[in-house]
Amino acid sequence: MGIEHRDFATLILPDRKDPVQIPVIEDTMGGRAIDIHALRKETGYITYDPGFVNTGSCDSSICYVNGEEGILRYRGYDIEDLVENCDFVEVAYLLIKGELPDAKERKRYADLLNKESLLHYDMQSFFRGYPFDAHPMAVLAAMSASLSAFYPEMDDIDPELSVDFAVTRLVSKIRTITAFQYRHMKGEDFVNPSYKLSYCENFLNMMFKSPVFEYQINPLHVKALNQLLILHADHEQNCSTTAVRLIASSGANLYASISAGLAALWGFKHGGANQAVIEMLEEAYENQWSVDDIIAKAKDKNSTFRLMGFGHRVYKTFDPRAKIAKKLCKEVLSEGGEHDPLLDIALELEERATQDPYFIERGLYPNVDFYTGLTFRRMGIPTNMFTAMFAIGRLPGWIAHWLEWKKDPFGKIGRPRQVYVGPTQRKVPPLNER
Ligand code: SDX
Repeated sequence: MGIEHRDFATLILPDRKDPVQIPVIEDTMGGRAIDIHALRKETGYITYDPGFVNTGSCDSSICYVNGEEGILRYRGYDIEDLVENCDFVEVAYLLIKGELPDAKERKRYADLLNKESLLHYDMQSFFRGYPFDAHPMAVLAAMSASLSAFYPEMDDIDPELSVDFAVTRLVSKIRTITAFQYRHMKGEDFVNPSYKLSYCENFLNMMFKSPVFEYQINPLHVKALNQLLILHADHEQNCSTTAVRLIASSGANLYASISAGLAALWGFKHGGANQAVIEMLEEAYENQWSVDDIIAKAKDKNSTFRLMGFGHRVYKTFDPRAKIAKKLCKEVLSEGGEHDPLLDIALELEERATQDPYFIERGLYPNVDFYTGLTFRRMGIPTNMFTAMFAIGRLPGWIAHWLEWKKDPFGKIGRPRQVYVGPTQRKVPPLNER
């Protein structure tokens, strides 16, 4: 671990005479942690922290989040700065390689992404094995793991190898797989990627190009997709990234680790929330719920209803991504097309909930998922694909964490302890006495 111990904490345990000195770590931004990696060996005690709310699982230099101040940085760059001055390919490069590319390197990387954007012909037949209405995340998770069958060299990737080839293939193909799944859902032929188009232009073209009408790629949608993918690109040790690092720690290959990240992201509490937000707003609109009705449901402890797109384990103020997503949502929805009444409900919900003591006391504010779905929807992306869009964005972050774990000289296999609350030892009774 590349970290220094500056101070010590003193632990006084009920069954020990002498206090225990425990090293304290101070991180780059002044955050402090109690280093308990030797605690059980020295005291016989473990710690107990369900959901790892207070537990640091690793040291990392990829992403910094300050939940109290609403700060998000990738490799030291503020998210607002990156969204304004970079496209998704540059941010993916930054996360994976640690530095922003110069113009020459950016072109080389973009060309490599295009070169790796085709899907093996035999993999294309997989789609026909799924029902047309299969959830895209089921397909994506399966296809990611299946890539290791077609590219077995991934089993022993050495981080010292050029990561461009191995990981770029995945960053490129996840976009093709998602677009092909959409075409399969519609019962339409696949549209292959084109070397003439950028990363995001290619995605929109593979999704919506049609032989029966002139499809023009909308530049505002290209801008919006770049920014939305950047917003989703990483977020330190969130649930799915932790899953990727845990699977990496067993020595599993990149594609298998990413498949685990996709499965974790699918949950409605995590990456599935953007889909759940739209479903909540649609239900409210169809049932003509007032905003007061929705807020009352969210506050009702007897109800499992939650205000989707609100609240966050780390942010106890506005998620900086939500502010950017809201501005982008209003820009895309005001460009044309019929008015979306769900936006009115969302804006009023934000206005009222952020002034309600229940939400304020609990630090519940809009998170990244609250507005993104409305923008994806206007771009023509179906609701059940929103989490797949999140995954396309999050992939560079997952890869960066996978590589960081692989390079960690102290990388131990992840294996938490537990507090056992089951039965003490007992004998097996004969069958006729059970
Ligand atoms: C993402 O970790 C990451 O970084 C994730 C992510 C990323 O980029 O990877 O940022 C992406 O997953 C964003 C979050 C998307 N999920 C949702 O929008 C689903 C709705 N939100 C909640 O499920 C919840 O806020 C979580 C899961 C996001 C966070 O839950 P915590 O930190 O475990 O908080 P909690 O469940 O302990 O809630 C604390 C209190 C409880 O009330 P009390 O028991 O104190 O009375 O807040 C309440 C909760 O009931 N609460 C909510 C609420 N979220 C929390 N009440 C109503 N609506 C909500 N949305």
